[in-house]
Amino acid sequence: MKINVKNTEETIELGKKIATSLKAGDVVLLDGELGAGKTTLTKGIAKGLDIDGNIKSPTFTLVREYRNGRIPLFHMDMYRLENSDPFEVGIDEYLSESGICVIEWSEFITELLPADFLRIEIKKIGDESREINLSGVGDHYQKIVEEMGKGDE
Ligand SMILES: Nc1ncnc2c1ncn2[C@@H]1O[C@H](COP(=O)(O)OP(=O)(O)OP(=O)(O)O)[C@@H](O)[C@H]1O
Ligand SMILES: [Mg+2]
Repeated sequence: MKINVKNTEETIELGKKIATSLKAGDVVLLDGELGAGKTTLTKGIAKGLDIDGNIKSPTFTLVREYRNGRIPLFHMDMYRLENSDPFEVGIDEYLSESGICVIEWSEFITELLPADFLRIEIKKIGDESREINLSGVGDHYQKIVEEMGKGDE
């Protein structure tokens, strides 16, 4: 399902809306070039989970945990995984914990990913406009995408 957003605020709103259908244990993959808006969308998801405080890019730390919301959020950015062992970083443990894993640059850990997930692809259209493509693999995530398609005419 494709959604067009006009600015940062609309991306954050979309993240908030997505968060309302997420549950503990869910995995969300965020794809898109550098600066597409993956971390920005994560900020929206965090807001939707009632997480207080600033969401910072976990580029150097690889994972940031936010446990003060409705459901724990584990925000991961695998871009700088480089030669680190994802097991050493504990990625597999986060994936089996009962929080929501939002993963930027998941292509670097494909072998650790579960079979089912929500994939969100962000494409830069202009300075501030983005095309956001949601696809669900597995029943649960397909339902989330269907839900998102309702009532947005
Ligand atoms: N519609 C939009 N949605 C999201 N971000 C936007 C939009 N329009 C402009 N921006 C700007 O684009 C930048 C997106 O940065 P962000 O850190 O979210 O990207 P990213 O995809 O996480 O990049 P990286 O791969 O480097 O982690 C921000 O500075 C944001 O303000
Ligand atoms: Mg980012």
